[in-house]
Amino acid sequence: MSLIFAHRGYSAQFPENTMLAFQQAVKAEAHGIELDIQMTKDGELVIIHDEKVNRTTDGSGYVKDFTYNELRMLNSAYKYKGKLPKVQIPALEEFLEWMQQADFICNIELKNNQFPYTGMEEKAIELVRRYCLSERVIFSSFNHYSIVHSHRLAPEIETAPLFSDGIYQPWIYAKAIKAAAIHPNHRLLNKKIVRASEDFGIKVRAYTINNEKRMRYLSEAGISAIITDNPLLAKDAMGNLPNS
Ligand code: G3P
Ligand code: CA
Repeated sequence: MSLIFAHRGYSAQFPENTMLAFQQAVKAEAHGIELDIQMTKDGELVIIHDEKVNRTTDGSGYVKDFTYNELRMLNSAYKYKGKLPKVQIPALEEFLEWMQQADFICNIELKNNQFPYTGMEEKAIELVRRYCLSERVIFSSFNHYSIVHSHRLAPEIETAPLFSDGIYQPWIYAKAIKAAAIHPNHRLLNKKIVRASEDFGIKVRAYTINNEKRMRYLSEAGISAIITDNPLLAKDAMGNLPNS
């Protein structure tokens, strides 16, 4: 069965990386939620995709230059004006506390490939352990040094390198860095690569797939999970497949 991970929550319909989008993803019966974390000036881990707040909020500037309290003043639903009330940028801690009462998997993407954010891995691990969620969390990153560092600090938490470019036999690489999975851009995949990796014991979770035909193709190939903006569409597309 291929699992469905909601990319930045149910981001096709709701403001990305907000508690609202996460709650709606659970309501849509996604098996997992993918989210992105950055770090504030005062060291709080917050859930937001870009290094800057400009695209997704009514503010401007880098996340790293805001304190947590300053960030909470911003509105992540400003593009939904008149349709939604103000929605705040969530802290990772707020999300993990909420996650305890539900039953889904969470893929935390460490957004530390542009700014190194010293201590990000340690803080994320401390929070995941504090809320006893190690078995339901996956750390991913385009920063593979961070993936290795996370695994050394917390071998009980699954890790997965993200790829936007193709590498030769990525399952061998994943095993070498003790990752349990690879999270490639779906355009890098074909059935052969998915099967070789899954047969080798390395799970494949591909991003970001919003096309039903492509969802079915990868599900039939035996992919562990697809990461999509639209979990309901994925459920419809893959629901009747023998492999899903
Ligand atoms: O984790 C998969 C995917 O989210 C990586 O790309 O830019 O959407 O964070 P991006
Ligand atoms: Ca992401």
